Amino acid sequence: MSGDSHDILARLRALREGDAPTHGGRVLSYVYDSGLGELDELADAAARLARPLNGLDPTVFPSIAAMESDVVGFARRMLHGGRSVVGSVTSGGTESCLLAVKAARDLWREAHPDGGRPRLLTASTVHAAFQKAALLFDLDWDAVPVGPDGALGAEDLIARMDGDVALVVVSAPAYPTGALDAVASVAPAAADRGIACHVDACFGGFVLPWWPGLPRWDFRVRGVTSISADLHKFGYAPKGVSVLLHGGRGQGGRRRQRAQFFATTRWAGYPVVNPTLLGSRSASPLAAGWAIMQHLSDDGYAQLAGSIRRVADAVRETVVDIPGLTVLGDPVGPAIALVADDSVPPGERVDPHRLADELAGHGWKIQHQPGLVQTDGVRIPHSAHLTLTPVLEQRVGEFGDALRAASDSVRGRPRADARMLLAGMRALGYGEGGRVPGPKAAWRLLRLAGAGKVSADQPMAVLMALIEKLPPPVAEVLLTELLARLSEPR
Ligand SMILES: Cc1ncc(COP(=O)(O)O)c(C=O)c1O
Repeated sequence: MSGDSHDILARLRALREGDAPTHGGRVLSYVYDSGLGELDELADAAARLARPLNGLDPTVFPSIAAMESDVVGFARRMLHGGRSVVGSVTSGGTESCLLAVKAARDLWREAHPDGGRPRLLTASTVHAAFQKAALLFDLDWDAVPVGPDGALGAEDLIARMDGDVALVVVSAPAYPTGALDAVASVAPAAADRGIACHVDACFGGFVLPWWPGLPRWDFRVRGVTSISADLHKFGYAPKGVSVLLHGGRGQGGRRRQRAQFFATTRWAGYPVVNPTLLGSRSASPLAAGWAIMQHLSDDGYAQLAGSIRRVADAVRETVVDIPGLTVLGDPVGPAIALVADDSVPPGERVDPHRLADELAGHGWKIQHQPGLVQTDGVRIPHSAHLTLTPVLEQRVGEFGDALRAASDSVRGRPRADARMLLAGMRALGYGEGGRVPGPKAAWRLLRLAGAGKVSADQPMAVLMALIEKLPPPVAEVLLTELLARLSEPR
């Protein structure tokens, strides 16, 4: 390999050609294009200025503390927090969620010196980051089933609030369904029982403040003790930046935020004080997010939220006119899940995963979500997720045409059938209650399932059907294997 920088960059450009497009709205997940080209330039310039810094020590690099203070200040005003609300900038939604749980766990342990195991109480539609938090920080995860339309019954969650609950989590909105959980009912009930309540607004935090007609869901609701909101989603910053705010009565916010820190003088080196999970960290995402936030300010975010609202209305109007396809539940904000319309005969339904595969052929990528059978047996149907971004307003008519055409192509085709594959896996002993494959066996099974090679255009309907039916420990090992093999050196 040549070390010439021109060649190196040419190689990177060639590699990037295999990626899904990050701009233009054709990929309706992962990327959040405002459609404003100047934001990218501003973010690049700000990131470059901050690139040599180390976020490990804002006493040495005070610009980092200044930018963080501005970001937290903007977010707390946006979310109607008073002066007692404090916060930290993190590397993304998952880290914000992890830290909200870690802080709540530590305070719960402080209040329960006799021990016991704390519980994390959420709707079953909460982001997977909270499962990860429960696993890493040793809490029991208690997922309250929602209705088949994704709606959480607040009373179901409230009924499970008890002394062992360290944190209740509600979403604004939930990623898989777009449902805005009943924050106004849940948070006060949690407060009455002395339980902390986190609102996960990682997805909607920079949109819903400008969405009209919503019930209150932010710090104006009594009992909301923390909120996460991602700048690298609808804050339109490049990846690597989110904000976690802590509030509550009196010094509650400060106490909670301090519990998220790790500090030690018990080692041979410099005193370590980490507000977030990492040690050394880049200041570039913070600088980029900070710059974009000031450039857009309230008016800019309001206008972009207006674009998303018009896109959401247009997409819903299109779907209403497509026989056999429907929108799940009553989504709020920039997420919509498409499902087959069960009210029509099977021969007239549009399977959302067949639709997603077909749409890829039209140049649009929507995201497959497997169905989920909850602990009460109620299934949230398999669906196709759409993250709606402002840039899509420029070609929402074109998207609607593609949606109609792709639906016409797949209408009446039943869901992909994974029964043969499943039977094969069971025969090999990897069924319910059976073994979990090691890396080699998992790879063999993946190839058997035709998923040994991953490309951006690979049809996913069969793999998704298989994932839904396999015992979760087996499916999780297969998916781990799939991803791990992608970056193994050849
Ligand atoms: C509601 C919600 N919470 C948390 C996350 C996790 O965020 P990240 O992917 O930035 O870690 C997401 C990501 O989509 C989300 O939608």
